[in-house]
Amino acid sequence: TPTRYEAETAPAVCQGTIDSNHAGFSGSGFCNGNAAVGAYAQFTVNASTAGTATLGVRFANGASGARPANLVVNGSTVATVSYETTGAWTTWSTKSLTVSLNAGSNTIRLDPTTAVGLPNIDSLDVG
Ligand code: GCU
Repeated sequence: TPTRYEAETAPAVCQGTIDSNHAGFSGSGFCNGNAAVGAYAQFTVNASTAGTATLGVRFANGASGARPANLVVNGSTVATVSYETTGAWTTWSTKSLTVSLNAGSNTIRLDPTTAVGLPNIDSLDVG
């Protein structure tokens, strides 16, 4: 069973507001990042051992265009991920990604590359 980290729960960081106006999120809200390049959401996750982990980024993108973001693990950009439209802000989808983690604490940052910023980010599953 993966471990879920909520975007609204410290030590997660949301460069924007924690909102709850679009149903379907888990926990108490989601990160509505600012509309700017680099307005990130960041999670701090624990891994019991070093190695490959599967991430599940739960997001909603009710806009018409994709919202790409760099995936930054422990300060290094490892991929650019396209968060396609989900059709509505209440329609949530999960993007599966594979990364290498260190044993112990790791930071995982979703760092948008365009001026529209991130989609709304609900949570990160790590399995
Ligand atoms: C709307 C929507 C927000 C979303 C924003 C955006 O304002 O209500 O939840 O974050 O669009 O375009 O990012």
